[in-house]
Amino acid sequence: MQDTIPEMMTAIAIEAPGGPDVLVPCEVPVPRPGPGEVLVKVAFAGVNRPDVLQRQGQYPAPPDASPLPGLEISGTVVSVGAGVGTLQDGARVCALVAGGGYAEYCIADAGQCLPVPDSLPLDQAAALPETLFTVWHNVFDRGWAIDGETMLVHGGTSGIGTMAIMLGKLFGMTVIVTCGSAAKCKRAREIGADHAINYKESDFVAEVARITDGKGVNLVLDMISGDYVPRNLKCLAEDGRHVTIAVLGGAKAHVNMAAVMSRRYVLTGSTLRPRPASFKRLLAREIATEVWPSVENGELRPVMDASFPLTRAADAHRRMEAGDHVGKIVLEV
Ligand SMILES: NC(=O)c1ccc[n+]([C@@H]2O[C@H](COP(=O)([O-])OP(=O)(O)OC[C@H]3O[C@@H](n4cnc5c(N)ncnc54)[C@H](OP(=O)(O)O)[C@@H]3O)[C@@H](O)[C@H]2O)c1
Repeated sequence: MQDTIPEMMTAIAIEAPGGPDVLVPCEVPVPRPGPGEVLVKVAFAGVNRPDVLQRQGQYPAPPDASPLPGLEISGTVVSVGAGVGTLQDGARVCALVAGGGYAEYCIADAGQCLPVPDSLPLDQAAALPETLFTVWHNVFDRGWAIDGETMLVHGGTSGIGTMAIMLGKLFGMTVIVTCGSAAKCKRAREIGADHAINYKESDFVAEVARITDGKGVNLVLDMISGDYVPRNLKCLAEDGRHVTIAVLGGAKAHVNMAAVMSRRYVLTGSTLRPRPASFKRLLAREIATEVWPSVENGELRPVMDASFPLTRAADAHRRMEAGDHVGKIVLEV
């Protein structure tokens, strides 16, 4: 297969920090896989809010990562680096990548690839890794969620939110979400949320108290931060866990540390992209064991919003920033 790989490829570059128009097609050399890596001919690339933040100059690529945007891909392995024993040319995979997904070819760490079963279309496969790795790690590893517990998720119809609903339900949790419209609340319930609160019409703290009979939730998965944090803490049951994955509403928060102490709260959070490949490989192994069987048997499928051609990446970002999407946006390469 090696001789069919071209020297150059089309990719989407970020010309300068700015609006969607700074995403421009460019011709760049096709990367070659190093030890432990594979080269994937990309079929689809997932679009994530962190790509928007990177484009705006607020979330720079780690020093050792491709400066091109794109954190998840699906496609076919076309070249295998030294020491890769698990994958061969022709394998259908999806992968979490540290960058470079908006391109015809992308390097992936072999340990961060997951096999795409025949029953899973490649557009859906590309929509899984970023949210799956993020939600799995934050809800179950950091948030210690177990079946029978209740979780509050903000941004219930986001890529992350829809995955949190589905994983929560898959593992026996009660899932409460907040969304910014009645239509989004309806969609969140259709996706599986037990309760959806329109935060523009009601106070989510009061609603959570009502839904849980005053007991509160065991875990909050929060992408808002700012003034949501003290309100989130009011939603937590004793021994509750507060997990921060983004600060869309502001990075600073006033926290009542007396409540953290007396109610034994745990405040934690994480960002996936800068973590070392060794950590992401471990996560991939955990997901392969714990979650992938549900992908293989069709129980877990991403919620798909829209697909755009690679060269229209700017339109994909416009759609995400308009905020009307439900679930995942992907680019077809
Ligand atoms: N920590 C990590 O490792 C990690 C990894 C991946 C993603 N993330 C973060 O997780 C968040 C969700 O990512 P995504 O790809 O799922 O994004 P997305 O689909 O664009 O979702 C963002 C959601 O946030 C809600 N929202 C509330 N306040 C907002 C505001 N001020 N600006 C924009 N949206 C706001 C919107 O829902 P309503 O319309 O209902 O308000 C929207 O559904 C992002 O902040 C992203 O950076 C973190």
